[in-house]
Amino acid sequence: MTDTAPFLEIEDLKVFFPTSDGLVRATDGLSYTLEKGRTLGIVGESGSGKSVSSSAILGLHRGSNAQVSGRITLDGVDLLAISDNEMRRKRGSEVAMIFQDPLSAMHPYYTVGNQIAEAYLVHNSASKKEARTRTIEMLDRVGIPQPDRRVDDYPHQFSGGMRQRAMIAMALINDPTLLIADEPTTALDVTVQAQILDLLVDLQRDFDTAIILITHDLGVVAEMSHDVLVMYGGRAVEYGTAKEILSHPEMPYTWGLLSSVPDVARDTSLPLVPIPGNPPSLLNPPSGCHFHPRCPHKDKVPGGLCSTTTPELTPGSRGTNHLKRCHLTNPDEVFAEEVAPEIGLEVGA
Ligand SMILES: Nc1ncnc2c1ncn2[C@@H]1O[C@H](COP(=O)(O)OP(=O)(O)O)[C@@H](O)[C@H]1O
Ligand SMILES: [Mg+2]
Repeated sequence: MTDTAPFLEIEDLKVFFPTSDGLVRATDGLSYTLEKGRTLGIVGESGSGKSVSSSAILGLHRGSNAQVSGRITLDGVDLLAISDNEMRRKRGSEVAMIFQDPLSAMHPYYTVGNQIAEAYLVHNSASKKEARTRTIEMLDRVGIPQPDRRVDDYPHQFSGGMRQRAMIAMALINDPTLLIADEPTTALDVTVQAQILDLLVDLQRDFDTAIILITHDLGVVAEMSHDVLVMYGGRAVEYGTAKEILSHPEMPYTWGLLSSVPDVARDTSLPLVPIPGNPPSLLNPPSGCHFHPRCPHKDKVPGGLCSTTTPELTPGSRGTNHLKRCHLTNPDEVFAEEVAPEIGLEVGA
């Protein structure tokens, strides 16, 4: 720990959506930090609040009926407190986002090059010619072959992987200090996925970008992230360094995620086991621990505590670099004896 404030600090972030059925608590008290040059992997099943919480950083809930509270401090500035104009200036320059589906982020009627150049011109006083030169440079940087020709192509003339590269070029053209990548490779085949992830690592090394990488795939997290935040039902349920979380997970939900992904240092001859049951309702979440209705280990906790009392996110048995939201008092033993052998995972040092 240092005396200086973290580069990005999220404190008790809540994003609630009023609906005719009641209040949807999509993000319910989320806190984390991220430093420049580091990647935080946010994982969790669909609907756990990954996108909603991250969109709040870019102010994307402004102008909607969402109720957003808490604090989001980026480089000392509280992003929830600044004006819409200031937020617009930061969006696309200081903070940028890439999505799963580049087609939805790119207009079909404009060339790829025009759209990337436009992203540059919005934030810089440059001529069209300078913007085009810079666009070609970025296309080259993200690995588009013959960028001086492809710059005039339309999005549909690019393959899925190339479109994702182009979107990364557009996101990075103004050297943002924070990049939010929301399932950036989910729609791509495995080879292209690996190339795109490599590209992000390269760019991070060159530009010292802080990256929030949202994925439901722990394999991707294992490859890319320095820190990991596991979300369930709008809350963090486990948080720590990737090494810690992946080798000594202490939350049964994380164990479930580990047994449902193909390649996190596990014995791949063993079957993948999806987590039984459904994600919790965010309108009427389960009492106690949100995960208890699906948790195969709740009977190890005496007094039915899991169904009555919400566990806090607290340091587990391995210290303050590893937080978990679970009542189990001996998760390391349960994991080593019951879970790790079943999923063929070696318990790390
Ligand atoms: N505008 C909205 N109104 C009501 N509910 C919403 C709205 N946007 C998102 N949600 C709900 O918030 C929850 C979290 O969504 P999201 O963050 O997109 O999940 P994911 O973890 O898959 O990215 C989901 O249940 C979703 O239905
Ligand atoms: Mg999402």
